[in-house]
Amino acid sequence: MGKVTLEGKPLYLLLAALLLAEGVAAQTPRQSLAQTPPMGWNSWNKFACKVSEELIKSVADAIAVNGMKDAGYQFVVIDDCWQVSRDENGFIVADPQLFPSGMKALADYVHSKGLKFGLYSDAGSKTCAGRPGSQGHEYQDALQYARWGVDYLKYDWCSTEKRNAEEAYSTMSNALLSTGRPIVFSICEWGTAKPWLWGAGIGNLWRTTPDINDVWSIHKKLPNGDCCERLGFLELLDMQVGLESFAGPGHWNDPDMMEVGNGGMTIAEYRAHFSFWALLAAPLIAGNDVRSMSPEIKEILTNSEVIAVNQDKLGRQGHRVAKSGDLEVWSKGLSDGTRAVILFNRGPLESDVRVSWDQIGYPNHLAAKVRDLWSHRDLGSFTGTYSAKVPSHSVVMVKVVP
Ligand code: GLA
Repeated sequence: MGKVTLEGKPLYLLLAALLLAEGVAAQTPRQSLAQTPPMGWNSWNKFACKVSEELIKSVADAIAVNGMKDAGYQFVVIDDCWQVSRDENGFIVADPQLFPSGMKALADYVHSKGLKFGLYSDAGSKTCAGRPGSQGHEYQDALQYARWGVDYLKYDWCSTEKRNAEEAYSTMSNALLSTGRPIVFSICEWGTAKPWLWGAGIGNLWRTTPDINDVWSIHKKLPNGDCCERLGFLELLDMQVGLESFAGPGHWNDPDMMEVGNGGMTIAEYRAHFSFWALLAAPLIAGNDVRSMSPEIKEILTNSEVIAVNQDKLGRQGHRVAKSGDLEVWSKGLSDGTRAVILFNRGPLESDVRVSWDQIGYPNHLAAKVRDLWSHRDLGSFTGTYSAKVPSHSVVMVKVVP
């Protein structure tokens, strides 16, 4: 008797192919989303509870034409306060005054601009602003989001009492997957239960910190002397040190949404903030009024060379490779073997900051081209080291190309 075959192929090969396909499917339903860090806009940092259909439409209009969509910004996300109650069947109800056309129509509008639509909910009984949370309604809410056309869910952690974070986020992740609609899942648990240890495969990104504030640094210690009651850019940045090994395609550390353009920092400081979020492979979620930003802020948010570092397909999170007082060097390996490097001066005086090739994984005898990613200029070829004058509270961001 001959071998059992299907379409002329030996059965064991078909079985192997099936198993492989199964393995891929088992590994990827969640992680196949957000293969590069999500890019978009969220209402919270600028508008807090002042959200409406009108606001979201005008923001989508702006992103579609102001260069942000072309630069890669995709998700338009309504944060807290869009929801008011549940109906007699338990379905979540959007505020009928602020969203008179309903969420389906709004999602359709955002989609018509070639963008994606996101919403916010909470793993507890109430959101952080006291609106109805999803606890006990996870599958019903996921179904409703899918019907509306939601592409992204940010899921907060207020009013969760003693709930186990991994269980709570798994429940909603599975509920979203069960709808069959690809919905990026943003874990907003503030880093309390170390989501970098369990979040991959459950969420596509997870907050590693409490909320950002639109300020360079807030050194306001807690009563017990620990850092810090409120956090600025520097404190959030320092909290990313050591988390780099946990990020990768489909699962990103999230040091919170950006404050670029909200007015509390200088242009140089916002450039530093954006450069670091790019280098950290952080989600690039703008949080300013993108309908009326200055040319300088737009130039920061749409710098295609810096965004390319963030969106690099290798998916490495950059990390600190040298520190001497206020002067630091950070580096991110890119898929073409080059390195993005930030020379950082967090101090009050202009200073020289130097990177040597051995700090970024190259031999010092190597000659490499250096390109400035903010001035968009090739600076020449350097052997073993590159140094630049870096003003106070500023970065110089370069690409080193051997
Ligand atoms: C928490 C989150 C913020 C924002 C607010 C909304 O503080 O961390 O990002 O979503 O809730 O109430």
